[in-house]
Amino acid sequence: MREELQKIENETLAAVQSAESIKALEELKVRFLGKKGVLTLILKKMGGLSPEERPVIGKLANETRFKIESAIAAKSFELEKAALNQSLIAEKIDVTMPGKPFKLGKKHPLSKVLDEVKEIFLGMGYSIAEGPEIETDYYNFESLNIPRNHPARDIQDTFYIDENVVLRTQTSPVQMRYMQSNKPPIRIIAPGRVYRSDNVDATHSPLFHQIEGLVVDTGIRMSDLKGSLETFAKRLYGGEAQVRFRPHHFPFTEPSCEMDVMCFSCHGEGCRLCKGEGWIEILGAGMVHPAVLENGGVDSEKYSGFAFGIGLERITMRRYNLDDMRLLFENDVRFLEQF
Ligand code: PHE
Repeated sequence: MREELQKIENETLAAVQSAESIKALEELKVRFLGKKGVLTLILKKMGGLSPEERPVIGKLANETRFKIESAIAAKSFELEKAALNQSLIAEKIDVTMPGKPFKLGKKHPLSKVLDEVKEIFLGMGYSIAEGPEIETDYYNFESLNIPRNHPARDIQDTFYIDENVVLRTQTSPVQMRYMQSNKPPIRIIAPGRVYRSDNVDATHSPLFHQIEGLVVDTGIRMSDLKGSLETFAKRLYGGEAQVRFRPHHFPFTEPSCEMDVMCFSCHGEGCRLCKGEGWIEILGAGMVHPAVLENGGVDSEKYSGFAFGIGLERITMRRYNLDDMRLLFENDVRFLEQF
C-alpha cells in the first residue's frame, strides 16, 4: 500500500501542477480526495491490514492528503493571481482616449448687448434700477402725464389685466418709482421686458426689451442729454458712428426727441437694412416734463433732468446686422451658436 500511496501522491501532484484552471483543480480535488476519490478508496482497504501496520499506513495516508490539499491550495492561489493580472491588463483604461464632447451654452445676443450697455452706463456713473413688469395704470400712464384718452392706453395696444393693472408698455414707470423713493442727484438705467399687443413680424413682438435712463440734478440741460447719448452710441458702435436727433413728442418729456444712428451698411445712402432711410432710430428721449418731476416728489423749480428709452432689440439687430427680430426669440441654436 505504501507504493500505491506514493504513486497516487506523485500522479496527483503532477496533475495539480499542470492544471490550467480553477475548475480543473476542483475536478482533481474530487477525483483524489472526494467521497469516491482514489485516496478514500485506499483508506477503505485499511481494514485488511495488520494492527501494527494500520497506524503507520494511516499516518502516511494523512500526510499524502495534506500534501495534495496544500498543493491544490497553492496552485489555486497562483491561478487566481494570474486571472486577476489578466483582467487588470485587459480592462486597463486608456486615459489618452478622447473624451465625450459636450455642448457649451452661450450668452444670448440680447444679453450680450445688454451687458455692453450696462458697462457703458456704469462707466458714466449710472447705477441700475428695476421695476415690476405688472404695473398699475397710475405708474405706466397717469403719473407719466399720459391722459385717459391717449391712444397708447387703447386696449388695442396695451395688455390689460384689469381696469387698473397692465403689463407695462414701457420701462418709463421705473423713472417714477425711482424718483418717489430716491432724492436727486439721480443717474440710473432700468433695463427690462415690456409688452404691447402687437402681432409678430420682422420688426414687432408682443414682448420686447427697453433700457430706460433717468438723470435728475440741478442744471441738467438738453446738451447733457445729447452729449451722454452720443457718447453711448459711439461706445457701443465705435468712434466712427454718427448720430442725429429729431424732434418728437412724448407726454412725459418736453422737449422730446428721437435719436438715430447712421446706417452702417450704406452710410446714409439708404439701403435695404435701413429701409432706404440712411438712418436707424434707436431711442426716444427728452427733458423730463415738470409735471412728471412733481409727481415724483422732485422740486421742478430747483431740479431738471433728462430721460431716454432705448430699444434693446433695435440696437442688437443693428449691432449684428440682423434683418428679422424673430431670430432673437425663436431660440434656434444654429442661429444662437454664431454669437
Ligand atoms: N417710453 C418711451 C417709449 O416707449 C421712450 C422714452 C423714454 C421717451 C424716456 C422719452 C423718455 O417709446
